[in-house]
Amino acid sequence: MLIDTYGRVATDLRVSLTDRCNLRCTYCMPEEGLQWLAKPDLLTDDEIVRLIGIAVTALGIEEVRFTGGEPLLRPGLVGIVERVAALDPRPVTSLTTNGIGLRRTATALKAAGLDRVNVSLDTLRPDVFKTLTRRDRHKDVLEGLEAAREAGLTPVKVNTVLMPGLNEDEAPDLLSWAVDHDYELRFIEQMPLDAQHGWKREGMVTAGDILASLRTRFDLTPEAQDERGSAPAERWLVNGGPHRVGVIASVTRPFCAACDRTRLTADGQVRTCLFAREETDLRAALRSDAPDEEIARIWRLAMWGKKAGSGLDDPSFLQPDRPMSAIGG
Ligand code: GTP
Ligand code: 5AD
Ligand code: SF4
Repeated sequence: MLIDTYGRVATDLRVSLTDRCNLRCTYCMPEEGLQWLAKPDLLTDDEIVRLIGIAVTALGIEEVRFTGGEPLLRPGLVGIVERVAALDPRPVTSLTTNGIGLRRTATALKAAGLDRVNVSLDTLRPDVFKTLTRRDRHKDVLEGLEAAREAGLTPVKVNTVLMPGLNEDEAPDLLSWAVDHDYELRFIEQMPLDAQHGWKREGMVTAGDILASLRTRFDLTPEAQDERGSAPAERWLVNGGPHRVGVIASVTRPFCAACDRTRLTADGQVRTCLFAREETDLRAALRSDAPDEEIARIWRLAMWGKKAGSGLDDPSFLQPDRPMSAIGG
């Protein structure tokens, strides 16, 4: 079991498969990209599968989410999914992606054992998409979403970050579109995890703003408490249901007390929190031939050091050195 000093147990592992991406979202990274991790520093497919195996069989992990950067850029993704889905006990598997490569991979991912996907899409307007991501790929994302639903990678969730002056006014249109297409839409408050360190609290669209905007067109009723679980999204039934909309309010309504997560970066570092400043090196242990029990012990010890919260409200808050794209969302 992975437990911390506050009694929280991690059952959800998020694994970043690459820090690279084929978009350049302005709230994430600069136009020129970043200094990517060098190939020898990345975990190999075998190393990733071994660590996930330890997490599932020895540490109580029940759900494994593959993230990036953009995880569909990892050449061995389908094989990794297949091996992880074959573990005993079998974890629930999911993928968080920008959707661009899904049209050609959704069927193979489903066949390999992937359960579901979350796709990032911030706007329904191709011109705004191009401004926001600096790439003209809006159509590819919409087609990727359709492919995921058709392949049965459901429920398909859509993640949206709203920004003032860009797509802030789109919340009701996005919800109407998501309901029509049977996607579960979630709005995410922008977090200080951009590579440029340009985040400002005043420049963020809050959960309060989003709900007020949605309520101009929809009737929203909070989901019953017992349906909530520990996922970061607070959810509302749209016009009485069955469709739902979520808000992930990491900044204005933090959910750290219910956190059930541990993270692994593409270069084999365990992080206990998105905002942690500390990392624990599992790659060194792997590459010095440590047995599984030793790796499990190091991971447990890392978890024991997990902080109570993100520290976002502390006057001394410092953004982690790694940006979101290298942590794995
Ligand atoms: P499901 O609802 O189970 O599908 O997962 P999820 O919402 O956690 O996954 P996803 O990868 O789609 O993440 C959505 C947003 O939640 C991203 O912006 C993540 O950075 C954010 N997020 C995920 N886990 C955490 C967390 O532990 N803390 C905070 N503050 N944000 C998180
Ligand atoms: N704040 C909030 N969400 C972010 N994402 C990327 N960077 C940020 C940020 N700074 C979102 C992406 C994707 C999800 C994994 O995280 O849009 O949907
Ligand atoms: Fe790529 Fe995701 Fe960052 Fe956008 S937010 S640039 S899709 S890693």
